[in-house]
Amino acid sequence: MKITVIGTGYVGLVSGACLADTGNDVLCLDVDERKIEMLERGEIPIYEPGLEALVKRNAEAGRLRFTTDVEASVKHGLVQFVAVGTPPGEDGSADLKHVTAAARNIGRHLDHYAVVVDKSTVPVGTADRVRATISEELQVRGSNQDFAIVSNPEFLKEGAAVQDFMKPDRIVIGSDDERATQLMRSVYLPFQRNHERMLVMDVRSAELTKYAANAMLATRISFMNDLANLAERLGADIEMVRQGIGSDPRIGYHFLYAGTGYGGSCFPKDVKALQRTGRENGMELRILQAVEDVNEDQKSRLLEKVDRRFGNQVKGMRFALWGLAFKPNTDDMREAPSLVIIGGLLDRGASICAYDPVATAEATELFAAQAGVGFAESPMAALDGADALLIVTEWKEFRSPDFDGIRERLRHPVIIDGRNMYDPAMVRSFGLEYLAIGRPASTQDGKT
Ligand SMILES: NC(=O)c1ccc[n+]([C@@H]2O[C@H](COP(=O)([O-])OP(=O)(O)OC[C@H]3O[C@@H](n4cnc5c(N)ncnc54)[C@H](O)[C@@H]3O)[C@@H](O)[C@H]2O)c1
Repeated sequence: MKITVIGTGYVGLVSGACLADTGNDVLCLDVDERKIEMLERGEIPIYEPGLEALVKRNAEAGRLRFTTDVEASVKHGLVQFVAVGTPPGEDGSADLKHVTAAARNIGRHLDHYAVVVDKSTVPVGTADRVRATISEELQVRGSNQDFAIVSNPEFLKEGAAVQDFMKPDRIVIGSDDERATQLMRSVYLPFQRNHERMLVMDVRSAELTKYAANAMLATRISFMNDLANLAERLGADIEMVRQGIGSDPRIGYHFLYAGTGYGGSCFPKDVKALQRTGRENGMELRILQAVEDVNEDQKSRLLEKVDRRFGNQVKGMRFALWGLAFKPNTDDMREAPSLVIIGGLLDRGASICAYDPVATAEATELFAAQAGVGFAESPMAALDGADALLIVTEWKEFRSPDFDGIRERLRHPVIIDGRNMYDPAMVRSFGLEYLAIGRPASTQDGKT
């Protein structure tokens, strides 16, 4: 099948590559010329496990091509996925300017029946808006070209995006057009050979499902962070509590980790956008307001721990920071808690030497003009000359570090762990002071 993917970012590039891998003829469009040039040279603009080999294989086979030519892209696809960004507007609502621009382009050039698929995360009602925009442009051209609109929100996770797309938990299709639904079935058939995963529903329910999923996951995180802060006051250990409740199948273990707060390109903006939708429809989503408030506070928890531990010594101190990306296995730093933590340390007059396995290039660009932020080539190199270590992202390579080496390199043998990566007693047995989230703070002799 001829497929066009509009927007070649995390979602678009992964979708395009996976759809090409099942034999489709995929053309990916982006307005970012630099990105398309890179892809044409065989370079991958983002880090995503397994993506590079997938793109290479399908590009070499001629099934996956990249372009900035809008007209050619619209004339290509029987199915046209819209996977452009929907960043937060100033009032928290999803900014639909890229979605609208994509729709306009389709209307300006469409010359055959096509199914236009909203894959971007968009507020309820957007499919109607996309339909109206395309129709408007067709009318300007005096064309009565038939087309269909489908909502197909994407649930892939950065860091496991290829795997998620190839083996989805579910494929949500919002459609009121039988021909379009059947076409979507054939697009997704190769990804659900084991059992049916496609849920067909009305368009509005599909649009709302995506926000509901992210809002629920964000709620679990904030709930645990709130409880973690209480556990600290009570002398309880949130890690024990997590296991104690996660073992209940009604609750489960996923997304119950206390930490430095959620970030990334989805949860923060989607929680805000859903609240905004509530307000526009005359109701406050009170739970989500609390979820957001807790999350904002949580991003500063590590800084509070730094202040409590080092008081007015922080000015002039140097902190090693492990992890910059908002979560492991991605280079995405959008709304990453590390940004708040680095900013807070700089405000206090401290300096930072950070290490991240893949996000350093992204961070170097973000902090280019900022004195006081340096980057190391390895986790241990980040410790040289540092006073204390802060852990911000739970990369696998931090799981079993050389604790003796850490103690020897740090001026103060202190680890402040925003991800609860270690057994506190074990860390302390190496003569290190260990402060974590929602766990009793104790000194190296175990004194609380
Ligand atoms: N990143 C994720 O993990 C994830 C997961 C599920 C859903 N989503 C949603 O998918 C959408 C895309 O997210 P993303 O992370 O891939 O964004 P992204 O910023 O990585 O990529 C978006 C791309 O669209 C391009 N673009 C913008 N306007 C365009 C236009 N008119 N024509 C062609 N290209 C255009 C941009 O240049 C950019 O390369 C968002 O709505 C997001 O909420 C993201």
